Amino acid sequence: MVKNITFFFYLLLLLGCHTTQNRSTKTHEPHRPLFHFTPPKMWMNDPNGMVYFEGEYHLFYQHYPDSTVWGPMHWGHAVSSDMVHWEHLPIALYPDSLGMIFSGSAVVDWKNTSGFGKNGKPPLVAIFTHHLMEGEKAGRSDFQYQSIAYSNDKGRTWTKYAGNPVVPNTQKIRDFRDPKVIWHEASKQWVMVFAAQDHVKFWSSPDLKNWKHLSDFGKEWGARRGVWECPDFFPMAVEGDKSGGDLKSPPDSGTKWVLLLSLNPGAANGGSGTQYFVGDFDGKTFTLDPDFAGSVQNGKGIWLDWGRDNYAGVTWSDVPKSDGRRLFMGWMSNWDYATTVPTQAWRSAMTLPRSLALRETNAGLRLVSQPVKELETLRKGVVVFSSQSLDGPLYVSPKYDLDPAGLEVLLELEFPDNAASSFAVVLTNADGEEYRVGFDAGSNEFFSDRTRSGDLRFSDKFALKRHVAPRPRKDKTLKMHLFFDVASCELFADGGETAMTDIIFPTKKFSRIRFESVNGAVNMKSAMLYELKSAR
Ligand code: FRU
Repeated sequence: MVKNITFFFYLLLLLGCHTTQNRSTKTHEPHRPLFHFTPPKMWMNDPNGMVYFEGEYHLFYQHYPDSTVWGPMHWGHAVSSDMVHWEHLPIALYPDSLGMIFSGSAVVDWKNTSGFGKNGKPPLVAIFTHHLMEGEKAGRSDFQYQSIAYSNDKGRTWTKYAGNPVVPNTQKIRDFRDPKVIWHEASKQWVMVFAAQDHVKFWSSPDLKNWKHLSDFGKEWGARRGVWECPDFFPMAVEGDKSGGDLKSPPDSGTKWVLLLSLNPGAANGGSGTQYFVGDFDGKTFTLDPDFAGSVQNGKGIWLDWGRDNYAGVTWSDVPKSDGRRLFMGWMSNWDYATTVPTQAWRSAMTLPRSLALRETNAGLRLVSQPVKELETLRKGVVVFSSQSLDGPLYVSPKYDLDPAGLEVLLELEFPDNAASSFAVVLTNADGEEYRVGFDAGSNEFFSDRTRSGDLRFSDKFALKRHVAPRPRKDKTLKMHLFFDVASCELFADGGETAMTDIIFPTKKFSRIRFESVNGAVNMKSAMLYELKSAR
């Protein structure tokens, strides 16, 4: 039963049309997201070469233009001025005699250390793995190595360096890939980090062409359940707790280095996922922070995202200092089922762009993820609920004309002491399919439950059980920030301390939304629902 319902504000701004018909595209693509990046057609996996240059965020991506399943990899390409609206560009990098083009990064070579610059303008330099299929098939172990390419026209065309590969695989390590390159100002050198099966390697270079080995990290810290892939490495200022919660952490203090690593398999809720390490870097060696080391004993991982669909994510290079954000995007899928998800014309999307911060939390130093503020430009109408006690369901639609296909929900909840109750946002359709996402006070866990969310037949690994994430924070008010986009849900809880990203495939589109408390009352202090415009 719902008590004390006071809708003090109901405003749905009809900016343009927002009916279901207007949202559908000419082709029948019922699971195509409205505001997540997708390739126009065919296969996509990891984001690659993310770099900001002259007003454009570049997004390259693992792409096979001839099929909707993984195959010979190219770098697809798109640009955006806000990470929300994307312009598709022609394929940037094609396979060549050294192999397919696997994942990697890109930098602006501001000082023209490489000499690839032209007319006084810095070049963009892409650093990627060549994967030689013939070598793999012949049973060799040195079929992956690092190569570079450069562009003098804002990433529109690329020239591969004649001296490739720049990091040969002399140690013959089968998994030897996914270079991320940064400029390390303190030691005035380029630093490359890449994955080598159960550890990462650091190399350095003065000019992006000549590289030498610096150090290795991780053999003793790997979760050891799968292979490490797609590292990222960046410094972050440690912030104190800004959320007004219960943390008595010091004010902003010092800088730490963060190493992101994607692991396949072995993620928190199964399959592929991204963990991270926090420590210090002296220009040669990455050393784990002693407190952080305590959290990753015995193969335990600390996860960037607890959902199943945020993999191989990395951050943008060269975001201007005046902006100051560490901007992230991941591949919104999981190798457990990526090649069989039920979309026809294309396969998979990226996560929403996120801003990362490093915060001193109850549990220690932790990365927090927040959706970028640019997403607010998608908001077109809002329904606001005042504080009320919820005991049972509260139907939001059809009472309010909100389409859950594109929706942002901001919630503040309070659970009674020792409550066993759980709160969920529930999306349903006419076929009785439902997706639930929320918090269970009994088990102190956030959850995402897609076990009855629609098409599950394409993989027996897709919806084995609900996905859960422990809540480290102890303060009474719990905040949840949610984005629903046709076939996905992203949860940012407690100011981003817990993130959960899951994809879903309802066989008919979700048309109804309700809030629901089960096993007792929950105080819903506030709830705001924004209907979101398409970014396509
Ligand atoms: C991660 C990954 C990378 C590799 C790429 C190949 O999803 O396996 O390690 O470079 O995909 O497409």
